[in-house]
Amino acid sequence: MSLKQRLGFQVPIFAFSHCRDVVVEVTKAGGYGVLGASTFSPEQLEIELTWIDSHVDGRPYGVDVIIPGKYDHEAEVGHGKIDLHDLIPDEHKNFMAKILADEGVLELPHDERERINAEIITGRGAMTPDGARRLVEVVLRHPQVKLVVSALGPPPPDVVAKLRTQGITIGAMCGRPKHAARHKAAGVDLVVAQGTEAGGHSGEISTLVLVPQVIDAVGGEIPVIAAGGFGRGSQIAAALALGAEGVWCGTVWLGTRESELTPFERQAYFDAQTEDAVRRRCRTGKTVRMLRSRLSEAWEQPGAPAYLDPPLQGILFNEMTARVIRAERADLYSFPAGQVVGTMTEETTVRQVMYDMQVELADTLERLGKLDLGGQ
Ligand SMILES: Cc1cc2nc3c(=O)[nH]c(=O)nc-3n(C[C@H](O)[C@H](O)[C@H](O)COP(=O)(O)O)c2cc1C
Repeated sequence: MSLKQRLGFQVPIFAFSHCRDVVVEVTKAGGYGVLGASTFSPEQLEIELTWIDSHVDGRPYGVDVIIPGKYDHEAEVGHGKIDLHDLIPDEHKNFMAKILADEGVLELPHDERERINAEIITGRGAMTPDGARRLVEVVLRHPQVKLVVSALGPPPPDVVAKLRTQGITIGAMCGRPKHAARHKAAGVDLVVAQGTEAGGHSGEISTLVLVPQVIDAVGGEIPVIAAGGFGRGSQIAAALALGAEGVWCGTVWLGTRESELTPFERQAYFDAQTEDAVRRRCRTGKTVRMLRSRLSEAWEQPGAPAYLDPPLQGILFNEMTARVIRAERADLYSFPAGQVVGTMTEETTVRQVMYDMQVELADTLERLGKLDLGGQ
């Protein structure tokens, strides 16, 4: 059975997004929406999935959970029992506080600070294996979820077993061929080969080089989806030519009306060039491609504190990001962004992106079909 038949999509475009509207719109347009669940508490994820279920016209969709191999064990054990802030060293808190104070960025009003911090802590608290398990329990109550993808590590055996009993297709993100082999051994049904161009946690190998390597690493036995650098149809044609069975995009949706970003944040994306999407560790403790800002660069200077493991670095950074967004300071704003950010210049819609990608894909395939390659 082809991946298309198994998952039930019409066009091989997977959309990763933390925003339920994007997931719904892509899925209704024939693609496959995948909700990034790792910044939600289980209670909030229940709300998001219930909403998607009722808006997606009965179509299947996916969920992505971060299951890191390396994480702060004390934070996992203490989740729900202690304030995870207490695990962040003063050195780190003071470093961040000083940068924003020197930049004149105001503190959040007390009420908003409490609310945002509670959200950040419960959400970021999901970025441990047990946090991911709590999210998977929610997913299992939503039968329209037909695909679960793990990021930053293979899904543990107990998670694989639970998803299997409900017939859910299991995937895993990978940035290196050896990770793909490990995922296959863990029993996944597909891998997403994500090149360095990608926004979010990314490795060092480009998509063009990585995809064939990953196909070889899994022995051609399970499908490979290509991620990183896909914003238009000709690029999708290239991925299909490499042997991928679809593409997985994240950054391109951030410029759509449906995305979760504020108008200020969206403008930061439209103003950015490709080379402004840099790989840094300040956001989660692991390497993330994100918009370069004075905040991200401050962490690269000699004397900056060492990065904390997930979820602690993310808790610290997200609180400061909330202040930066409130102050609308583009020079301090760092959110995940892939290299395609340089091609995004104005607000669009999910439907328009889906339409443009498919038209250009068809045109590209037609053009390739007419190429005179000098043979018979
Ligand atoms: C804002 C943002 C957040 C992301 N968060 C996650 C995540 O939580 N889990 C995950 O597997 N991938 C995450 N990614 C990576 C995407 O799944 C996807 O692989 C990547 O965006 C593809 O490359 P592109 O940005 O060039 O489209 C994120 C990407 C972006 C842009």
